[in-house]
Amino acid sequence: MHLLQVSQLQKRYGDHEVVQNIDFHINQGECVALLGPNGAGKTTIIKMILDINKLTGGQILLNGKRHHQMRKFIGYLPQHPTFYPWMTGKELLAFLGGLSNIEKKTLEQRINELLELVGLGQVGNQLIATYSGGMKQRLGIAQALIHQPKLLIMDEPVSALDPLGRRDILELLKVIKLKSTILFSTHILHDAEELCDKMLIINKGRLLVNGSINQIIEQTQKPIFIIQAPRLSDWTHKLVNEDIVESIELTGNAAKVRVKSIEQGREWLLSNILKLHLPIQKFELVQESLEEIFLRMVKSY
Ligand SMILES: Nc1ncnc2c1ncn2[C@@H]1O[C@H](COP(=O)(O)OP(=O)(O)O)[C@@H](O)[C@H]1O
Ligand SMILES: [Mg+2]
Repeated sequence: MHLLQVSQLQKRYGDHEVVQNIDFHINQGECVALLGPNGAGKTTIIKMILDINKLTGGQILLNGKRHHQMRKFIGYLPQHPTFYPWMTGKELLAFLGGLSNIEKKTLEQRINELLELVGLGQVGNQLIATYSGGMKQRLGIAQALIHQPKLLIMDEPVSALDPLGRRDILELLKVIKLKSTILFSTHILHDAEELCDKMLIINKGRLLVNGSINQIIEQTQKPIFIIQAPRLSDWTHKLVNEDIVESIELTGNAAKVRVKSIEQGREWLLSNILKLHLPIQKFELVQESLEEIFLRMVKSY
């Protein structure tokens, strides 16, 4: 049985279908990235899993069941967390742990362990007002883990941080993922690639592809011919309309021609180049990188 099973999930605001028939699952121990550009529907999906937003269609099951209080089983770090600045880190965790009815001795011990885990062991007694953005994010991760949830959901946990802060939090999440099941959203492919085993790529409320990075590459990668020659722009303009061609990018003297099939693409391009006597300097076959796949998918929908 899957830890989380999402089936035919839908959300509509008036006429706007913000989430359209999305299916996916998460198994215990997995780290899954919900990847998509701004406005794709990531936060909406997360809020429906947490029961903060109501579904307009579909079903969300945790361990095969629908629970009244999903948040009991899920730890949540929102996209824009807010904290009481007049509390210390320890006080905040004690307050939240109290809401989860954790017994006092156990709670005390857990708070200390969590503060150590997230690297705030030395500053637990300082006011949150004195914390940097990165420290607040660490505290946010600790608060999400206080009730030992079965699933940790983080909505863009590194997006608001500077490059160093982002690196720090990613390193921390690599440690946390050893013991937790994680769903985290991001609009940055690199973060997803670095941390996760599986990706759900979404755009405009639709799930475009779902699987491990290798599966996504295998299933969706398209061949690209790089052709270099002076003054290619007339040629590339005409190529856009050819059936065999998916897309073309021209940078300087080099055209990146994405084709539907290697064999047909190669034959067609070579014969066309010969026919037109293009003075080519380079003709090379490469495969799309994950980044190119992601950009293509997100642009074409
Ligand atoms: N309360 C709301 N009412 C109407 N539209 C909304 C509401 N919340 C979100 N949306 C729309 O839903 C889409 C997805 O938003 P969101 O889930 O926040 O995307 P993401 O988190 O991927 O950036 C956007 O087009 C947004 O404008
Ligand atoms: Mg969002």
